[in-house]
Amino acid sequence: MSDKKANLVLQPSGASYELDVISGTEGPDAIDISRLYGDAGIFTYDPGFVSTASCHSSITYIDGDEGILRYRGYPIEQLAAKSTFIEVAYLLLYGELPDARQLADFNGIITHHTMVNEALLRFFEGYHYDAHPMAMMVGVVGSLAGFYHDSLDIFDPRQRDICAHRLIAKIPTIAAACHKHNVGEPVMYPRNDLSYSANFMHMLKGTPCEDYEVDPLAERALDLLFILHADHEQNASTSTVRLAGSSGANPFACVSAGITSLWGPAHGGANEAVLTMLEEMGSVRNIDKYIARAKDKDDSYRLMGFGHRVYKNYDPRARIIREVCHLVLEKLADSNNPLFELALKLEEIATNDEYFVERKLYPNVDFYSGIIYRALGIPDNMFTVMFAIARTVGWVSHWTEMVSDPQFRIGRPRQIYDGAPKRDYVPIGERS
Ligand code: CMC
Repeated sequence: MSDKKANLVLQPSGASYELDVISGTEGPDAIDISRLYGDAGIFTYDPGFVSTASCHSSITYIDGDEGILRYRGYPIEQLAAKSTFIEVAYLLLYGELPDARQLADFNGIITHHTMVNEALLRFFEGYHYDAHPMAMMVGVVGSLAGFYHDSLDIFDPRQRDICAHRLIAKIPTIAAACHKHNVGEPVMYPRNDLSYSANFMHMLKGTPCEDYEVDPLAERALDLLFILHADHEQNASTSTVRLAGSSGANPFACVSAGITSLWGPAHGGANEAVLTMLEEMGSVRNIDKYIARAKDKDDSYRLMGFGHRVYKNYDPRARIIREVCHLVLEKLADSNNPLFELALKLEEIATNDEYFVERKLYPNVDFYSGIIYRALGIPDNMFTVMFAIARTVGWVSHWTEMVSDPQFRIGRPRQIYDGAPKRDYVPIGERS
């Protein structure tokens, strides 16, 4: 029982209700309205969940005003500088940094679960050659449930763990196979001697005729992007995974639902949309025209890769990746590429424009991630898939946390009904 309380007084009746106020370790307090409907017969209304906490969580903390992001208490800047994606995955999943033995074991488990059943690979034959890889991801990841019946008891912690390992390990293999289907090349099997990100590049870019040597800067940049995208508390796709999982659905189906939600341009689709936007702008000469469109209230056009629901300060992930972006462009990309020049100029102009400054619309992580992926030679339609690979660990960590919570119950929002009032059925011949 909390000692902080909030009073709600309904007018004109003057009926008053005392509500508990819940405090977390950090962040704003939350008014507990879970009994409000039962006690007062009234719902709360919050489209887009701007002011609503949907759960307790101890995985990730964000302070959007201060530009803070922490995984399990550790600042993202420290993890980005000192850790690896595999270590961060362990941290997100189990709550603590591993010791050397735990890290080696975890790395071994993930490495040895990367192959997929050969029958699963035949699913790709059913997709059109130019199917978007996210369309394939949604279907193929969901179908994993058809292969691993031995780990679908969501109330068994050991089975949950096995599912988490399978998802984290197999996601890059499936992702690379999506691309191979697009380009008509044979699927490359994983290599156990490579790191998580180097193995992905090998499966994406290698062929049976010629292996692909991953540049160490590319490997590190990719690992870093995976770290930065690994979790972001209750964003749209993670909330989707939680809502799907709240009915007791298996984690493969839930992660497939998360991939669906991630696909949209307001979320994970933004990195691909950034490149489409830059292509459309074409040249530095056109920037002003597009900025004017983004500012025009009568035009729905938005600058992709700018703004964030939570960050009203610089996205801390963008600050980290911006540096790497410049390094990658300098070392690995064709520095004369007009698209990269355009991106850097747009960044400069928009961050100094009054409209963007006033609304605190800074470049977000996906402004830079698409540019880096392009420089690493990753095809544009794979950008959102890259996000999905990294976010899988966040999704399974949240799913596990939710299912292990004793207060776990099905998610079921309410609505304000705006439709027709009761009316009687009119036979078809009598309708006007
Ligand atoms: N370009 C131009 N104006 C914008 C933009 C933009 N990218 N984003 C927001 N605004 C304006 C918006 O028109 C509104 O102006 P006003 O107050 O005058 O009506 C104001 O800024 C607030 O916008 P909002 O729509 O209330 O903000 P939101 O929290 O609902 O939307 C967002 C957040 C990320 C969906 C939005 O900023 C956006 O569409 N950005 C572009 C897409 C993008 O880059 N998404 C990736 C987010 S980071 C990756 C991830 O975590 O998924």
